Amino acid sequence: MNEQLLKKFQPLLSQMKDQVLAEQVVNVWNTAAVDGGWTTVEEIESIPFTLLTDTYGVNLLEHTIAVTRGAIGLALAMIDTYKKVPFDINMDWVIAGGILHDVGKLMEIEKYADGFRKSYAGKCARHPISGAIVAARLGLPQEVQNIIICHAKEGDGRPQRIEAVFVHQADFSTFNPCVMRAKGLLIE
Ligand SMILES: [Fe+2]
Repeated sequence: MNEQLLKKFQPLLSQMKDQVLAEQVVNVWNTAAVDGGWTTVEEIESIPFTLLTDTYGVNLLEHTIAVTRGAIGLALAMIDTYKKVPFDINMDWVIAGGILHDVGKLMEIEKYADGFRKSYAGKCARHPISGAIVAARLGLPQEVQNIIICHAKEGDGRPQRIEAVFVHQADFSTFNPCVMRAKGLLIE
């Protein structure tokens, strides 16, 4: 699985300066996939990115890549535009956090009949927590753990790295339109 995952994430991982961290990122995905009982990338590509709303066919891997690209875009918008960026932005952590923000979903979601449902593990710990636990187990920096923990509602009102803000906003830019369409609130 490592090789297949590496291939999927390579265009993002190759942008990282710290290639040891890049390798750790793939190891976290691989470990979470094993813990969740997923054996192939094709299987993972069948997982909807959320169970909270219709995803209109967008899978977890596509979502993860789109969110990471969105977070990179938000960071670069500041870096490339501001004469002096008043924040300390670590692009490696933006990329690592983007790729890992939903890794816990590999354990939170399980196959059921011809669909998917929340697993027992997912009831015990939502994906921001379970994802951060795997990342901590494999020795990822606490800043990346912060991004994983705080990207969703767990981060509301909590201290966060700026990289977590970018990942959160990119994540909700992909999630909200699905919810809005389901509620008839998306103008189209
Ligand atoms: Fe997400």
